[in-house]
Amino acid sequence: MAMTVTLKVWRQPGPNAPGRFETYTTSHAHPDMSFLEMLDVVNEEIIKAGQDPIAFDSDCREGICGSCGLVIDGLAHGPDKGATTCQVHMRRFKNGDTITVEPFRAKAFPVIKDLVVDRSALDRIIAAGGYISINAGGAPDGNSIPVPKDVADLSMDNAQCIQCGACVAACKNAAAHLFTSAKIAHLGLLPQGEPERGRRAVRMVEQMDAEGFGSCSNEGECEAVCPKEISIASIARMNRDYARAVASK
Ligand code: SF4
Ligand code: FES
Repeated sequence: MAMTVTLKVWRQPGPNAPGRFETYTTSHAHPDMSFLEMLDVVNEEIIKAGQDPIAFDSDCREGICGSCGLVIDGLAHGPDKGATTCQVHMRRFKNGDTITVEPFRAKAFPVIKDLVVDRSALDRIIAAGGYISINAGGAPDGNSIPVPKDVADLSMDNAQCIQCGACVAACKNAAAHLFTSAKIAHLGLLPQGEPERGRRAVRMVEQMDAEGFGSCSNEGECEAVCPKEISIASIARMNRDYARAVASK
């Protein structure tokens, strides 16, 4: 059964151009479509009308790559808990609904065009963590370094971060603490990452500040929207790692 929905979409031709909401209505949405497939349909209609289609990011469209990221009706990644924008389906909306679609907004995420933002600040935080600088020799057998199950589980929980940036978009301070702490934790918790745990935390936190992300005031909005449900306990661990490393300098 086809659905009719009206979209209020943020359109912005370029980084320094003024933006505005434009309204589009389609009668060719379907409850089984993903939100992004519905946007594809709207774009086909816009192109047929000879206009510029809405720019938005996506790649895997199955919750893996972190490319997609829209604020749908005020919620980063939309209404589904533990899901990315590409995993939201039109059955979450009603026939006749009006839906507001905006980019992830943060000072450190400048708009490139429409709903596409530059999230390369997150890449630079990871790069600041540096390489493993010890001579590790050849690849050791995976079982030669025993890792307690609870430590491996916690590390893997944090390794699930897909670098989408929703935590930043949801935070009133535009803080990147959940992202940065997840990236620090998945290496620092394992014995292989332990030797550089403190130095990595200091470098990544300093880069986070240099990129213009805000401070954490424990709102918990980041955890609420994170599609991988990363716990804010990671932020407390990052703060401890950072404080310990700075104190021992
Ligand atoms: S912590 Fe969660 S919300 Fe933030 S970048 Fe990683 S996956 Fe996205
Ligand atoms: S397009 Fe890859 S996570 Fe959404």
